[in-house]
Amino acid sequence: MTRILIIGASGGIGLQAVRSALARRYDVRAFSRSADRIAIDDPRLETSAGNARSASDVSAALAGVDVVIQTLGVAADPGRLFKSIDLFSTATRILLPEMERAGVRRLISVTGFGAGDSAAHVGHLQSIPFRLLLGRAYDDKSIQERLIVDSGLDWTIARPVILTNGPTTDRVQALVDPDSWHWGLISRADVAEFLIGQVEDTRFIGKSVVLTT
Ligand SMILES: NC(=O)c1ccc[n+]([C@@H]2O[C@H](COP(=O)([O-])OP(=O)(O)OC[C@H]3O[C@@H](n4cnc5c(N)ncnc54)[C@H](OP(=O)(O)O)[C@@H]3O)[C@@H](O)[C@H]2O)c1
Repeated sequence: MTRILIIGASGGIGLQAVRSALARRYDVRAFSRSADRIAIDDPRLETSAGNARSASDVSAALAGVDVVIQTLGVAADPGRLFKSIDLFSTATRILLPEMERAGVRRLISVTGFGAGDSAAHVGHLQSIPFRLLLGRAYDDKSIQERLIVDSGLDWTIARPVILTNGPTTDRVQALVDPDSWHWGLISRADVAEFLIGQVEDTRFIGKSVVLTT
């Protein structure tokens, strides 16, 4: 039985991914600081309250795991605009060697359109507000992506466009070719379905895909 560790499981995409994985009858370990407040009653779900910045918490959460899905996010408070952000890179610097140690090879990680080499495709009109609002987070996501790409693990990076809280659709596009990258909307539920689909789909191993509908 495949056990998936979801890091950042208590909100947004992560919580949707928990639901999606349980619906597909995977065993799930849901990890976040408030994971023990996840209100889903399912024998296949185990919660693990911990901090992604703590190597010992992450190490404990990796025991017996086959696949890691990383869906970390930072709180959207206005004060964030002026704060430096290092959650994505710090948590990834901790996670990668712990995965090596635990012998877990598959990592599926959410960053966002505008991270890494997709920054050049954000577009002139959007780039100024994008940098003002999200520049710090996306600079750190770009470091995160570089760490993952250099890790030697079987990784997939998922870069969603603008997120909504809508339902799943059958319109998800996973765009690999940079010439096809563009803005759009995608629901957290659709992103979650894509992530869980990657547990058994090998097509996007070693690839960074822009996700849109
Ligand atoms: N908003 C958009 O349009 C958009 C577009 C593209 C990409 N994205 C990115 O998509 C990702 C997911 O966003 P979302 O809105 O679905 O998620 P979210 O609601 O921001 O959830 C973030 C998750 O990370 C966990 N987390 C935060 N700090 C943690 C820590 N130190 N240790 C362990 N867990 C931690 C939170 O749980 P706890 O608080 O319980 O720890 C929560 O479960 C984010 O990286 C976001 O930037 C967003």
